[in-house]
Amino acid sequence: MKFFVDTADIAEIRELAATGLLDGVTTNPSLIQKSGRKMLDVIAEICAAVEGPVSAEVTATDHAAMLAEGRKLAKIAKNVAVKVPLTPDGLKTCRVLADEGTKVNVTLCFSPAQALLAAKARAAFISPFVGRLDDIGQDGMGLIADIVQIYRSYPAFKTEVLVASIRHPIHVIESAKLGADVATLPPAVLRSLFNHPLTDKGLAAFLADWKKTGQSIL
Ligand code: E4P
Repeated sequence: MKFFVDTADIAEIRELAATGLLDGVTTNPSLIQKSGRKMLDVIAEICAAVEGPVSAEVTATDHAAMLAEGRKLAKIAKNVAVKVPLTPDGLKTCRVLADEGTKVNVTLCFSPAQALLAAKARAAFISPFVGRLDDIGQDGMGLIADIVQIYRSYPAFKTEVLVASIRHPIHVIESAKLGADVATLPPAVLRSLFNHPLTDKGLAAFLADWKKTGQSIL
């Protein structure tokens, strides 16, 4: 399973990239706003810091303007994945950009039917939002299960399932159990995956015993 980080904070991205565990980055207009940076600058910087796909979202809503924005974003760096919303204009734009060789991440997916359309539009990634579905009392992980099942039934579909709107580690583990291709994690959730109290307790005990031996490895 690939791990993307869901942030436009370049310091966070650099720190997480240094772990060697990061496969890409996703951003959206809200994350760009939170960064306080100019979008084109921050996307260029992230693309230089990370080898994998970096999602940069269009903000136009009609096909012609989306396409112009998508083409401009794609020119920033080879690893830009243009993000478009799951609307008729978004999918029309997805198809054109995909045919031009640009990776497209179709975002704001909330149903299996929408995911099916995105695969037919040749999206590189479909982003189903599990947390936002859970927030309204619907089954976010059920959506992931449905999409994975549908995509597996059609090997000609090349679209990767990118689980988005992740709120906690259980979302990550359930996505992995279902065989989702990618999870995009808020930095705090990614960091929390390292944690277990028995790891901390066990390490403290090992170090205390080691100290008693009076030895040193180096
Ligand atoms: C990522 O591609 C999505 O934009 C993001 O995961 C949405 O997360 P949120 O529901 O926490 O805003």
